[in-house]
Amino acid sequence: MKKVLLIGIGAGHPDHLTIQAVKALNTVDVFFFLDKGEVKSDLANFRKSICERFIEGRTYRFVEAASPVRDAKAADYAAGVRAWHDDKATIVGRMIAEELADGQVGAFLVWGDPSLYDSTIRVIEDVLRSGRVAFAYEVIPGITSVQALAAQHKIALNTIGGPIQITTGRRIKDGFPEGADTAVVMLDDGSGLQAIGGDDLEIHWGAYLGTSDEILIAGKLSDQAEEIARVREQARARKGWIMDTYVLKRVQKSER
Ligand SMILES: C[S@@+](CC[C@H](N)C(=O)[O-])C[C@H]1O[C@@H](n2cnc3c(N)ncnc32)[C@H](O)[C@@H]1O
Repeated sequence: MKKVLLIGIGAGHPDHLTIQAVKALNTVDVFFFLDKGEVKSDLANFRKSICERFIEGRTYRFVEAASPVRDAKAADYAAGVRAWHDDKATIVGRMIAEELADGQVGAFLVWGDPSLYDSTIRVIEDVLRSGRVAFAYEVIPGITSVQALAAQHKIALNTIGGPIQITTGRRIKDGFPEGADTAVVMLDDGSGLQAIGGDDLEIHWGAYLGTSDEILIAGKLSDQAEEIARVREQARARKGWIMDTYVLKRVQKSER
């Protein structure tokens, strides 16, 4: 039987890898990469450097394929994402069928943790359902960018006994989530942060968390929103890409 490991590698610092992840890396024969083009080559290089750093006395190889691109203009966002996952499943199925021998271990190195805004588990399930190739798979957890952000700002995410909502830049435009004290926002192209207002919110923002380019800004949203937008745009222009995450919390009336 072929085996496939989905290994969470953390959000950008090589020390984010767990001991479980390092042990798993040392069983892998073939690493599969979906190449997202030059802009993301820093991330691809990071994945390869992790193999060099943590794998000892073992030969392994890389198999790369061009990642399909999501149709950002699709009228129905969810349908656009599903079509994108279908395209990925076709490529991933082919890679596992053609490049992994029976009895070998293959792996996908997943940014952060596979459970959070990542399609790898869904795609692997789609491949299995298609019946195109048989394999067993396991998930090894990683440090998410949300954990990295909270640690760097030295904050607990929840208020005492309070709920948290993890959401996207697209959704936060509809307003702060009903019933939550804390919102964690990911996948924001900058427009979500621009849209949200209110002087009862405090923000903890972080970009390139865990890397040598890490930037952290915190304070009242109304005081910091412009500065974050400025710093964000400057950093994105300099590096060609940006990944940022932020926590919004309601400030208690007595603290305002
Ligand atoms: C496709 S999601 C992947 C999330 C990942 N699975 C995780 O566990 O963090 C990409 C989003 O994660 C966040 N992100 C990932 N790595 C980050 C980092 N090093 N610094 C800041 N945000 C990051 C950003 O919000 C980015 O838009």
